Amino acid sequence: MPKKFSFSIVLVYFLSLLFFSVSFADCLPIQKAVSSSVESGNADLIPYKAIDRDPHSRWSSNHNDDQWIYFDLGEVKEFDVAIIMWEAAYAKVYEIDVSDDAKNWKTVLKENNGNGGEDLIRLDGQKARYIRMHGIKRNAQWGYSIYDFKVIAKDNIPPEAPIDISALSGDDAIVLSWEDNKESDLYYYDVYRSWKDEEEFEKVNVKPLRSAGFIDESVANGEEYYYYIVAVDYLDNASAPSEQVYSIPAAIPRVGTYLDASLPLEERVNDLLGRMTLREKVEQLAGMVDYDDMTSYGNSRLHIPPLRCADGPHGVRWGEGSTAFPVPLAIAASWNPSLMYDMGVYMARELKGHGRDVSLGPCLNICRDPRAGRSYEGYGEDPYLVGKMATAAVKGLQSEKVVSTPKHYACNNIEIGRGGGPVVIDDWSLREIYLPAFKECIQEGEAWGVMGAYNKVNGDYSCENKVLLRDILKDEWGFKGFVISDWHATHSTVRSINAGLDLEMPKANYYGKALYKAVKSGMVTEAVIDDSVKRILRTKFFSGLFDEERLENHRLVGKKEHDKFCLEAAREAMVLLKNSKNLLPIDKNKVTTIAVLGPLADKHTCGVDLGSSQIYPAKFDTPLGAIKDKIKSKKIKIIDDPKEADIALVFVGLSADVAGRLEGEAIDRENLRLPANQEALIDYAVGKNKKTIVVLLGGSAIATDSWGKKVPAIIDAWYCGQRGGEAIADVLFGDYNPAGRLPITFPVNAQQIPYTGWNYNGEYKTGVGYQYFETKGIKPLYCFGHGLSYTKFKYSALKIVYGDGWIGVSVNVRNVGLREGDEVVQLYLEDLKRSMPGPKKELKGFKRIHLKPNETQRVAFKLTPDDLALYNKYKKWVVEPGAFRVIVGGSSEDIRLSGIFKVVEGMGIVEYEGGF
Ligand code: BGC
Repeated sequence: MPKKFSFSIVLVYFLSLLFFSVSFADCLPIQKAVSSSVESGNADLIPYKAIDRDPHSRWSSNHNDDQWIYFDLGEVKEFDVAIIMWEAAYAKVYEIDVSDDAKNWKTVLKENNGNGGEDLIRLDGQKARYIRMHGIKRNAQWGYSIYDFKVIAKDNIPPEAPIDISALSGDDAIVLSWEDNKESDLYYYDVYRSWKDEEEFEKVNVKPLRSAGFIDESVANGEEYYYYIVAVDYLDNASAPSEQVYSIPAAIPRVGTYLDASLPLEERVNDLLGRMTLREKVEQLAGMVDYDDMTSYGNSRLHIPPLRCADGPHGVRWGEGSTAFPVPLAIAASWNPSLMYDMGVYMARELKGHGRDVSLGPCLNICRDPRAGRSYEGYGEDPYLVGKMATAAVKGLQSEKVVSTPKHYACNNIEIGRGGGPVVIDDWSLREIYLPAFKECIQEGEAWGVMGAYNKVNGDYSCENKVLLRDILKDEWGFKGFVISDWHATHSTVRSINAGLDLEMPKANYYGKALYKAVKSGMVTEAVIDDSVKRILRTKFFSGLFDEERLENHRLVGKKEHDKFCLEAAREAMVLLKNSKNLLPIDKNKVTTIAVLGPLADKHTCGVDLGSSQIYPAKFDTPLGAIKDKIKSKKIKIIDDPKEADIALVFVGLSADVAGRLEGEAIDRENLRLPANQEALIDYAVGKNKKTIVVLLGGSAIATDSWGKKVPAIIDAWYCGQRGGEAIADVLFGDYNPAGRLPITFPVNAQQIPYTGWNYNGEYKTGVGYQYFETKGIKPLYCFGHGLSYTKFKYSALKIVYGDGWIGVSVNVRNVGLREGDEVVQLYLEDLKRSMPGPKKELKGFKRIHLKPNETQRVAFKLTPDDLALYNKYKKWVVEPGAFRVIVGGSSEDIRLSGIFKVVEGMGIVEYEGGF
């Protein structure tokens, strides 16, 4: 905290410094003797006083013209500068003469226009024993008065840099003081200043300073600067720059409208904005330091807190001990948004525990290509499912007043070349596939942030894309929060700010000084800056940062409750892909030996540890450990040889520590297969034991074409977090009935999908995932929404009703098996008469329900115009009259019931702005 001080006291102190510390200059050894012409007769004003090196005493001459004073150096010496410091009575016309014998004088300077003060006379290499000032014409009626008269020899040693510098900020000026270097050949000081991050310093004193002090009055209230001082000697040798000092403005008292938590947010924002200088405003719009600090500027004068960010998608990437939750793709496989909400709450609490304010997520990247390295960070391929899951994440995070920044806006679907890959996309695909989840996070989730992507969209980088940022996000959707750049994804100053990028991270490369200059030169208006600053301030007010200091509290991190949640979430995420002849679950009473194989059998199940997903949990389990726990009361042996076992379990997957870096930030998979040694291991196991069960751990689709047919049972466990081992064991032994459903289509192999990397020229129009497969008539291996259960469900009694501006669809679902379990009821909509090309069907509703054996539940969905609308060729969202087919079932292919309803003109739903 800067010390408070009274500015007037500082001023008095400084003025006194000015008065009493006129500097001495070093000179040749003190003059031996001094003579003058007629003396004034006053004993205080004798000639010696002019050479005593005390600038407060003076020699004063008589008051007739043509007088002189000279001194003796004792022997002939070389000197370069003569200095005369005059009192008000000075010579207008005088000469400087030199001599070796004090008889024969040589004139080396004739001054006809003397004006007193300090006369600096360059004599460059003059040699003599005696030096004389010969006054010819007085300026005043009195004689001459000289405080100091001396010569200085060149030593070529630059003066020492000033020391002990301090910079005190007052209300409207900054006072600098430093130690006066009386012992060196000092002539003056210069003060240099730069604003914050600027590397260029400018000289701020107009005239050279003769004393150790300066008041910088050209600063505005509240500005913070770096200063350094340079000392320059009589021969223009400059010292090295002094150390830099930073002036911290005195804080205003902690009162004021904006600090009053009871006032409406917008009132507080406007009040604070009105107190900020332009520089303070611009400063708010950038991060402070490079990569890892992840913090934007605060402001100590106005008590504005910074924004401290942290990744990541499946746990807080900060310090150590954060809980490693299942990855978002796994949570998406639960088809249970409330799970994502809870995970958001827990992550937010851990984030606060680490002293952070902003969660850099959720990630809404649509899984356009399962080879994309960050597929696990998102929620899959379907815009509707992604929207529901991501919005739940936003709500969960923000319920704890942690700011959420849905990312990466927009069309960020592949990693290789991510720094600027060009996405060229038609309106339909943009509006119907890539933007809806963002819109929902903004309008329904009320997210306070949005992170701009690295890639370009239709020619412009996402972070300077006016159509995306200003036109759609801010103007059309009414977003009131701020746009944060992805790390180093900013490419310009004027373009970016005008396009709507509010916060450049991780630091000001294009904002900061450059942005300040752009405003000063009129390229950017202050209104644009104000708009961006307000967005940042609003967010800071929302998160309560002005009202309560957020301190690190590690007791909030890695809590038991979070660990317990990890187990529940991992169970819900498990997808039973295949289960021939009901091989699973394993009956503990019927097996005596189990072979456990595979590189991931005894490893954590958290998955990738790369980029924004790096988590270092305090604890984790492993599948083998959990299996051992499960069977400890039974006489079951774990062995290595599948041939000798009743059943074989093979744990394989893409985790970096066993498979190398196959996926993650800046990495895409080359194909969808497991590493060759893992496929060989599966072949080996199933060759020896037909009852082989494969458990997959991975961040996206895994192709099973080379081994899948031979293996009777496959579980996809994803990267299921720090309690994944136990969740897997629960599913294997039937203590939990799996009900996860695929949030992405699993192709037979990578050849089924076009490579959609940055150099992809194909059409976006064909849709993504199941929409693509259905449009092209390609049969995948496992379809979107697929997942088996240990029980069976029966669907009946589809009913469609028309409400006021909505359509209701309901069905009965009955558990007709012997075990209790969850079913994910999925509703797809087929627009049978549409003016635009589009997918065959789209997910428009889902519910995960729990049923006991024989239990029936009526599941109801409400379709709104949002669900029925399409983006037409006139760039409007419309609900077109015509027939729609409702399809209800257990996956995109497992269609159980369907019915048709019609929208007719006159029913009111033709064109709308969103919602009813
Ligand atoms: C990633 C972002 C992440 C940021 C900060 C970038 O490389 O794309 O998702 O939030 O780094 O770690």
